[in-house]
Amino acid sequence: MNPRSFVCCVVVSTMLVLLQSAHARIAPDYIVPCNATTRHCLVKATQDAIPEFVKGLPHLGVPQLDPFVIDKLAIPLSGLKVTFHEGKVSGFKKCIVDDVVSELEKRHFVLQFHCNLTIKGQYEAVGKILLFPINGEGDAKIKLTNLRMKVDINTKYYKDSNGANHFGLKNYKYTFDYGDKVTFDLKNLFKESQELSNTVLVFLNENWKTVAEEFGKPIVDYAVDLAVKTIEKFFVAVPYEELINVPIPTF
Ligand SMILES: *[C@@H]1O[C@H](CO)[C@@H](O)[C@H](O)[C@H]1NC(C)=O
Ligand SMILES: *[C@@H]1O[C@H](CO)[C@@H](O)[C@H](O)[C@H]1NC(C)=O
Repeated sequence: MNPRSFVCCVVVSTMLVLLQSAHARIAPDYIVPCNATTRHCLVKATQDAIPEFVKGLPHLGVPQLDPFVIDKLAIPLSGLKVTFHEGKVSGFKKCIVDDVVSELEKRHFVLQFHCNLTIKGQYEAVGKILLFPINGEGDAKIKLTNLRMKVDINTKYYKDSNGANHFGLKNYKYTFDYGDKVTFDLKNLFKESQELSNTVLVFLNENWKTVAEEFGKPIVDYAVDLAVKTIEKFFVAVPYEELINVPIPTF
């Protein structure tokens, strides 16, 4: 090969590499776009993606969801001050997807699923819970069995600075129920008495539903907000066309 054709060859192959990378898929391989917004395809695609997606995509700025960390969360209640810190929530990777609805024209997306989650961390609680005075601090472990959730998202479409289309999130709301059982394992509910701590813990578990309803919402709000923000980061990074193989509605 003479030097001129060598240079030419290098230039052409560099251009090919550049062109390819300009069109390279950003979405990881486990994202399989549906060819239609059928419930069957959307549920399967979502279910298949979850175990990998929850590991995060650091190069795209998408954080890990399983486990995810709660650095510090103050739970404001009347008569009881609870702080939860150094928390870890795990179990999202095994969530079961019950339904996915994607109405592209209406810019509406619904995700319904249920999961078993474990929340571990440190707690501090001072005040009263179900008439019991509490002054505790220590290890906390909360298990949720078949927590059911439905997240309802209004979406939008936009073009980024490179002209690529994206899904965006306008707003969302959600409903949930605590499912079959919530188990509390809270050490040292009374700093003064181990015996009283155990008695109250048994009582809290017997009344798990009331207890969960009394102080669970801030934790669930926190988790849902984090999950939605994570999906939003993914939408910012990955173009619309890599997520669904249906022409984007006019916008
Ligand atoms: C969508 O269609 C393409 C091309 O026919 C096919 O390879 C792909 O498997 C289809 N995707 C799904 C999720 O069925
Ligand atoms: C949660 O755990 C229960 C009991 O251990 C089990 O029956 C159920 O299938 C689990 N649910 C999920 C979503 O994994």
